[in-house]
Amino acid sequence: TNPNFVKIVEVGPRDGLQNEPKPIPPPIKAELINRLAISGLRNIEAGSFVSPKWVPQMAGTAEVLALIDSFPKTGYSVLVPNQKGLDDLLEILSPSISPNSHAKPPPSVTEVAIFTSATDAFSFANTNVSVSGSLERLAPVARRALDAGLKVRGYVSVVVTCPFSGRVDPRRVRDVSRELVQMGCYEVSLGDTTGAGTPASIRGMLEEVAKEVDVGTLAGHFHDTNGTATANIMTALDFGLRTFDASVGGLGGCPYSPGATGNVATEDVVYALTGDRLFGDIGEPYGNGEPSETAQSRWDVGPIDLARLAEIGEWISGVLGRETTSRAGKALLAR
Ligand code: HMG
Ligand code: MG
Repeated sequence: TNPNFVKIVEVGPRDGLQNEPKPIPPPIKAELINRLAISGLRNIEAGSFVSPKWVPQMAGTAEVLALIDSFPKTGYSVLVPNQKGLDDLLEILSPSISPNSHAKPPPSVTEVAIFTSATDAFSFANTNVSVSGSLERLAPVARRALDAGLKVRGYVSVVVTCPFSGRVDPRRVRDVSRELVQMGCYEVSLGDTTGAGTPASIRGMLEEVAKEVDVGTLAGHFHDTNGTATANIMTALDFGLRTFDASVGGLGGCPYSPGATGNVATEDVVYALTGDRLFGDIGEPYGNGEPSETAQSRWDVGPIDLARLAEIGEWISGVLGRETTSRAGKALLAR
């Protein structure tokens, strides 16, 4: 495995759209997901099977899944909060096929994401249960998903600050992350839900979590409320993480984290990791005749096409009646 490979998990269709007040038609969501796959993204969180009373915008996820095209190299995941969410998903994935059925084959959902939090206050606001109660609720969900052949990803919210209880003790993040791994999560995504994190607080939190969870299992999920998400990603990369969540156009915000903005824009992450390549190589010997380092970035994000991504960010932001918040996206489109 390439130590410089960075896995990007596109969460725009779920985290990015879940907070939108006006219903977005499933065909638009499906078009977004299809375009993201075409841009080279290999991991896309397509939606969630949560209570429509809690998050009305995700109510159409089943319809969205039925509308997405299959891109065999791209894996899709959906968020489930409980057994009912998983049941609803499994029903779609294995429909009773009647001999005359011309139904489209089920989409390639390879993974579910379960989610909990580092504080009870946030956990109650998000899922109406304490952290320990949510872990109890999720354990059998994870087991059944694994039995059904799905991979299970875990999220921990509010890993730096909580909108209700302030500064979060990294030891809480460590303990919850460990429990998710013990439940069978192959990856634990650490959510800086409020986007309060800085390189210093992210490093401090990671140092604590890494005492009990292998860094290769951890992912960074950084909201960009204060403009520090890219810096936080660079810090986490330095610490050994190789998986990051991002949202095209910087879409989003969490319904239960007032004032928090979207995830770091996928375009901004891809630019920070590989943008040097846009400007070609510098390979001429310089000064003492030693060949200079090339401008090629040492990070590899796979086949992601940044120009396409910038267009998608602009398009979906336009659909939502606003501008993309991606700095790299805007800069690229202005070139
Ligand atoms: P509850 O009200 O305690 O649940 O909510 P309940 O079991 O009493 O059910 C209430 C109603 O919801 C019932 O319907 C259920 O059938 C229905 P009624 O009988 O009243 O008509 N229901 C469902 N419907 C569809 N799908 C389901 C489902 N479950 C129950 N799966 C519950 C508890 C967990 C259901 C609720 O709190 C919930 O859905 N929460 C989800 C909140 C959410 O989606 N938050 C955003 C995602 S997490 C996030 O954004 C953070 C993250 O990005 C990381 C970060 O940035 O921090 C991942
Ligand atoms: Mg989030």
